[in-house]
Amino acid sequence: MKKVGFVQNDPLFGEVERNVARALELASKVEADLLVFPELFNTGYLFLSKEEVSKLAEDLEGYTVSELRKFAEDTSTALIAGFAERDGDKFYNSAVVIDENGDVKGVYRKTHLFFEEKLFFEPGDTGFRVFHVAGMRVGVMICYDWRFPEAARTLALKGAQVIAHPSNLVLPFAPTVDLARAVENRVYIILSDRSGVEERGGKRFEYEGRSLVVDPGMKVLVQAPKEGEHAMVAEVDPKLADNKKINELNDVFGDRRPEFYEGLC
Ligand code: ACM
Repeated sequence: MKKVGFVQNDPLFGEVERNVARALELASKVEADLLVFPELFNTGYLFLSKEEVSKLAEDLEGYTVSELRKFAEDTSTALIAGFAERDGDKFYNSAVVIDENGDVKGVYRKTHLFFEEKLFFEPGDTGFRVFHVAGMRVGVMICYDWRFPEAARTLALKGAQVIAHPSNLVLPFAPTVDLARAVENRVYIILSDRSGVEERGGKRFEYEGRSLVVDPGMKVLVQAPKEGEHAMVAEVDPKLADNKKINELNDVFGDRRPEFYEGLC
């Protein structure tokens, strides 16, 4: 059995040191093998210009990843966290994957950009990736990727037992839709959303919170409320996700008929 969970924070826009410290303070209140932090957990979400992204984006040697690595090593906790990634003169809405020894295993760069993210970030070029951390196979998708069932399906077909879903949800659907993604793929999903309200430059986003861990049978193991900051953990058995059988005659992957799914790709 493994302990997996999420941090649900309410970052202040641009206050990276404060936001990282607060998220790690929340994380230190629980014991886990794997914790997922929200999308852009360190900067906040509501960027108004590419110049702002440029000021706050970091590479894998930067402050945020260094702090996460120290925490991961000190507590033997694998971490997956959303941040604005700088790669040369390009910016990505990314999630870094750090193993329980504090080593960076890689990044996932958000495939489906939402709304004005399209003005500030490059579309992700990594594709959907599965990482081996804390004795589990963990795939990553970011926020609006939820609207494309192909994202979770691709990760599950690549062998993910757990899908980490860092988010900044501005629509109410994902805490429900992720339950369907879990049961149709027979995987665990860790949805890590932020809470609170951001108002900048005449724009306003209210975030959904309601982070959760759901099992391959669609049972919600833990869930945060919409409001407030929380760290929560559930016990999971990743091997359950390797078994796609739902009875002696049905296997939800074995029963697929891709020859009739023309038009999907
Ligand atoms: C979103 O993709 N952050 C809504």
